[in-house]
Amino acid sequence: MLTPLTNKTAVISGIGTWVPEKVLTNDDLSKIVDTNDEWITTRTGIRERHIAAPGESCSDMAAKAGAAALRSAGADPAEIDLLVVATVTADHCMPSTACLVQPKLGLVNATCFDISAACSGFVYALDIARQYILTGAARKAMVVGAEKMSAILDWQDRGTCVIFGDGAGAVVLEAGDGASRGIVSTAMGSDGSLANLIRVEAGGSALPASVETVQNRQHFIKMEVNQVFKSAVRGMAEISEKALALAGIASADLKAVVPHQANVRIISAIAEKLAIPMDKVVLNLDRYGNTTAASIPLALEEAVRGGRIQDGDFILLVAFGAGLTWGATVIQWGR
Ligand code: UT7
Repeated sequence: MLTPLTNKTAVISGIGTWVPEKVLTNDDLSKIVDTNDEWITTRTGIRERHIAAPGESCSDMAAKAGAAALRSAGADPAEIDLLVVATVTADHCMPSTACLVQPKLGLVNATCFDISAACSGFVYALDIARQYILTGAARKAMVVGAEKMSAILDWQDRGTCVIFGDGAGAVVLEAGDGASRGIVSTAMGSDGSLANLIRVEAGGSALPASVETVQNRQHFIKMEVNQVFKSAVRGMAEISEKALALAGIASADLKAVVPHQANVRIISAIAEKLAIPMDKVVLNLDRYGNTTAASIPLALEEAVRGGRIQDGDFILLVAFGAGLTWGATVIQWGR
């Protein structure tokens, strides 16, 4: 965690989301792979997910979420100094998706780059933007989590294709004075020795695209699901405790927890470890599935819009994903 150089805080002043129109239900999936609604619902909590249209890119979704966040913040696009897009489904290997979003939103004064931390991407990107704000390097920043997971799913692998969905969520972050609310603490971690647990094998410089990599289905996500499940519960519970300790508050002080929406069983196991009742936990994976870097802002926006999070409330964001990576953020909501 960064010790602030100034008395500034980093405050979320706007939030917006976007999901594609098309909905794919569990019943629809059962016509594609050997699965059924009962298995998916009881093992994951997911009932349906949104799937991008063929011509709808990650940057298109990111820009739509970003536009909504700008409106919510009442910010002028030219005021944004920094744009960080968290994604593992970038439009291209290069240029960055952030550089493609920039002209779509008219962020003419922003420094733009992507970060790759999979499902932890949004909390990682928020931490980066916060540090730009605290050091005075940026006055207003936009953080986007956007994914077109459907582009890297193997629709023949029932172990993974039923889990994920597409979407985007964005926030505008700005400097507040020392008395303002905002991000209170952040804690991040990684363990690259477990990099093989969630991976896309081909298409990078280690294994460039070839006829063989396509034939071997190596451009799709592969996951050791059971090991990931156990690591996710342990990782998210531990990093939450660390962020709460850094913030100097107890789990009982939290009004809401917004976890990465991977699996309702993972989320309830974490809530139990942290002694947080499930009615304080924001869940929307039944309608969106696991949208990787978009999952936390999609759930956060819904909770704010529904009035579950009010000015002054302490909330916890917590995520876990490929890398392995994990991270947690304590925020006192409001400007
Ligand atoms: O966001 C990044 C982090 N990712 C995650 O957090 C994902 C973590 N993992 C999970 O959420 C869970 O491990 C899954 C939901 C993916 C799987 O649940 P599980 O309870 O761990 O099931 P399993 O993999 O142990 O499979 C149980 C059974 C197997 O059959 P047998 O061997 O018992 O006969 C699977 O073949 O369920 C079978 N199965 C399915 N059946 C119907 C696996 N996938 C499906 C499916 N439909 N889609």
